[in-house]
Amino acid sequence: MHTIAVLPGDGIGEEVIREGLRVLEAVSAVTGFKYKLETYPYGADHFLKTGEGFPDSALREMRDHSAILLGAIGDPRIETGLLERAIIAGIRFGLDLYVNLRPVKLYAEHLCPLKGVTTDKLDLMFVRENTEGAYVGVGGIMKRGTGNEVAVCNMVWTRSGTERVIRYAFDLARRRNKEKKVTLVDKANAIRPMDLWTRVFGEVSKEYPDLKTDHAYIDAACMWMVKNPEWFDVVVTDNLFGDIITDLGAMLQGGLGIAASGNIHPGKVSMFEPIHGSAPKYKGKNVACPVASVMAVQMMLDYLGDHEASALVEGAIANTLRSKKIPSLHAGDLPTDRVGSILVDEVRELAAAAG
Ligand code: IPM
Ligand code: MN
Repeated sequence: MHTIAVLPGDGIGEEVIREGLRVLEAVSAVTGFKYKLETYPYGADHFLKTGEGFPDSALREMRDHSAILLGAIGDPRIETGLLERAIIAGIRFGLDLYVNLRPVKLYAEHLCPLKGVTTDKLDLMFVRENTEGAYVGVGGIMKRGTGNEVAVCNMVWTRSGTERVIRYAFDLARRRNKEKKVTLVDKANAIRPMDLWTRVFGEVSKEYPDLKTDHAYIDAACMWMVKNPEWFDVVVTDNLFGDIITDLGAMLQGGLGIAASGNIHPGKVSMFEPIHGSAPKYKGKNVACPVASVMAVQMMLDYLGDHEASALVEGAIANTLRSKKIPSLHAGDLPTDRVGSILVDEVRELAAAAG
């Protein structure tokens, strides 16, 4: 029995997670995936009501689950970044979820805004380092608001932190069995301390003689993503660079309406979430696209070892996008709950067809 912590969060979080859970229920009925849900209220409303952001006790509770499913955090009534840092970063850092796995895969050609990109040309995995870099909070502001104000933010990388995420990328490329290639994306030409990444990547690669390696600076990698995305298989990169380039990747696969991610510490409780934000203007309107949230469920099923269920959910998404039963991933094109129903039906049909 898997226990899943559900944090719908703010804005459209609740609506999209609801559809994700409907699909989870449908697929579990056919594969026998057994689970129990526990829902947590953390987010803007809870904070405004109680003053509680994300208490230490919540983090302790998270550890007792098999996985965490998160909707979205962010609300204009609250200071920028406060709850994002407390909850999203709080879970990533608190549970040491050092891999942020972000697949970029094109399921139907018409979803890509670029000309001539066929589905075989866009299928890659970003492995974003998730616990170091510019996100560690080493720095601050002095003489705030004065003419002499100073703002400092340090990017921090440790050898062990760099090594474990690079190793994850190599293991993933081997498992994926696609191009069998790992590309390191950094900025070691301008940010010389990133030489640590260059050296560690070189050292780890020696243990994987069956895999190819490649390298691109982050600026050039953005260019190649648009020009020749088929050159990438598994890409490993720093926290901030990974944050930025995966939004670019999301657009290429059809937008934030489909992009999901796994915050993973192999073998431990991990967190799955759509990469989009809380989109407060769409809250409660039943217009947000829940596909990314369903994708997060798919990644969670895969992580928890139910590969049959995960393949059914991915197949349902792929089929309904290709057949244009779900014609687009933009907010407002189809009601949120309607998209959920279409996916639930497709999961059942696929399962019936498979016998
Ligand atoms: C993401 C988000 C977060 C990040 C924010 C909300 C802190 O943009 O998951 O990509 O920067 O990591
Ligand atoms: Mn982001």
